[in-house]
Amino acid sequence: MLRTHTCGELRGSDAGTATTLCGWVASRRDHGGIVFLDLRDRYGITQVSVPSGNGDLSALALGLGPETVVRVRGTVRLRPGGMRNEKRPTGEVEVEASSLEVLNPARPPAIPVADGESASDEVRLRHRYLDLRRPSCQRVLEGRHRILSAVRRFFDGEGFVDVETPALVRWTPGGARNYVVPSRVHPGSFYALAESPQLFKQLLMVAGLDRYYQVVRCFRDEDLRLDRQPEFSQVDVEMSFVEEEDVMGAVERMLAAVVKEVDGRDLPLPLRRIPYSEAMLRYGCDKPDLRFGLPISDVTDLVRESGFTVFRAAAAAGGVVRGLSVPGGASLSRKEIDGLEKVAREAGAKGLAWMKREEPGSPEGEFRGPFVKFLAGGEAAAIADGVGAARGDLSLFVAADEESACAALAAVRGAAARAKGLLDGTALACCWVVDFPLLERTEGGGWAARHHAFTSPRPDQLELLETDPGRVLARAYDLVINGFEIGGGSIRTHRTDVQERVFRAIGIGPGEAREKFTFLLEALASGAPPHGGIALGVDRLVMVLLRLPNIRDVIAFPKTTSAQDLMTGAPSPVSPSQLRELRIRPEA
Ligand code: AMO
Ligand code: AMP
Repeated sequence: MLRTHTCGELRGSDAGTATTLCGWVASRRDHGGIVFLDLRDRYGITQVSVPSGNGDLSALALGLGPETVVRVRGTVRLRPGGMRNEKRPTGEVEVEASSLEVLNPARPPAIPVADGESASDEVRLRHRYLDLRRPSCQRVLEGRHRILSAVRRFFDGEGFVDVETPALVRWTPGGARNYVVPSRVHPGSFYALAESPQLFKQLLMVAGLDRYYQVVRCFRDEDLRLDRQPEFSQVDVEMSFVEEEDVMGAVERMLAAVVKEVDGRDLPLPLRRIPYSEAMLRYGCDKPDLRFGLPISDVTDLVRESGFTVFRAAAAAGGVVRGLSVPGGASLSRKEIDGLEKVAREAGAKGLAWMKREEPGSPEGEFRGPFVKFLAGGEAAAIADGVGAARGDLSLFVAADEESACAALAAVRGAAARAKGLLDGTALACCWVVDFPLLERTEGGGWAARHHAFTSPRPDQLELLETDPGRVLARAYDLVINGFEIGGGSIRTHRTDVQERVFRAIGIGPGEAREKFTFLLEALASGAPPHGGIALGVDRLVMVLLRLPNIRDVIAFPKTTSAQDLMTGAPSPVSPSQLRELRIRPEA
């Protein structure tokens, strides 16, 4: 190699050793003749001193611009006591240079490479190779690698086989919007980029592979958010002859192994299982953030006769009145409460009714808030008790249809936790959400699969598929960490007759099912074992485990929220001749 040591390696015990280092010039300081360079590589930073008295060497050192790639030969010296840098592992020593070689000069960097120096997201993404030179970014990529290594070690150890599946697949209805790829060989026909290996992993079970896993890239043409990318990775898993608990058990043991690797902590197992209906009632959403309490309670039955019209009218209209109590929240200012009300409105509520339960002896009386004056005797105490508000607490209520009330209170819950500083930055609050409904209403009034069409209904509820489809529960489970959906899976339908009934319930008729899913139905009829699995979003998992705020932070070359790669300029137009070859005529 061009070097004998890395820039993170030398210690006091190396004093006197001859060394050759390679790296980037992170900084240069001129101290009256002696020039100090900080030399950086992935492993750390080592200080290099260029003594005065060697005219050519000093001149060369003085001329080095930031990010120049250099090779330094020299001797390791202990720094004098006062000059040591306790913050750096290499801080006891410096390398006194005897020669200096420029391996490659660098143009002035477009963004500062040092950590903590800011640059706009756009410029950082445009020059991502410089951004990734930052030590903090390199720690993230290393962390991601460690997590994936631990995942692979776990599955290897449990006898899972890593099988690769196609990315160019047949388009099938349902699921996410697909990217389509024109076929040159078959003009007018298209592949879809796989949104997941779902059908292939099921076919691997039919093939008898028994235990499959893959770290696989998936593609979805969706609207992007802070936890979504158009291409992302899954840890994809499928197992034969299993039930829900077998899959959840394997995955939570894998998670515990990964947490141990990353955090050195023991994750207590089994993780909590929360039925979907309870998650919606208590947390307002199907991915509850359990880092804090603030559970939601339903007080509809307490306000049917309320003197507060908003509550009474919502209950009478078949809606709900739900609320939560913020412990110690009576100390929140009017401005902070207005902030919470704004959150509720943005999430679709018409308002947020608030009430403080004051400490005994308060001059305003026990209850205070804009709507307290409308409440008849005892009602304020009843609803405060209903949401578990004690003295000094703040109760917050939303009156609305059930769906809006859930959405608004889920948002308020998070905002209140932030306002009261209840978020523990190091917590990992994991749970399984189970007992999901199989189907959900479409805008057209029909039914669609909530998860995907291959999820098995509960066997004791098959009859409901034809009579009351909305009540059928799925054999599905989601893994939730800190309020993020990290993974989702299910036990699958392994019998053709049941699969055809599910297709019928979601409006895929026998003809269409035959045409689009012939291979699946034939495979199920060819001796498919009972099977089930799950997929975890790798990027989301890494984001949560490394406590980073955005999925982009954990991807080496991410896309923007408008699905662009600012560095390479993808997507880009292609030439008319390429389009002609594909027999595609652009719309004028
Ligand atoms: P699902 O669609 O729930 O299930 O996806 C599984 C997990 O993948 C992650 N994920 C994403 N991450 C980043 N960007 C995206 N656009 C994105 N979309 C999904 C999430 C999610 O929980 N085949 C089924 C799994 C199965 O049934 O086994 C599937 O793909 O963390
Ligand atoms: P208003 O009569 O609209 O001024 O509302 C009085 C109080 O009730 C305000 O604090 C509103 O935020 C609150 N409020 C209005 N509509 C609702 C609702 N649907 N649910 C909860 N609170 C509401």
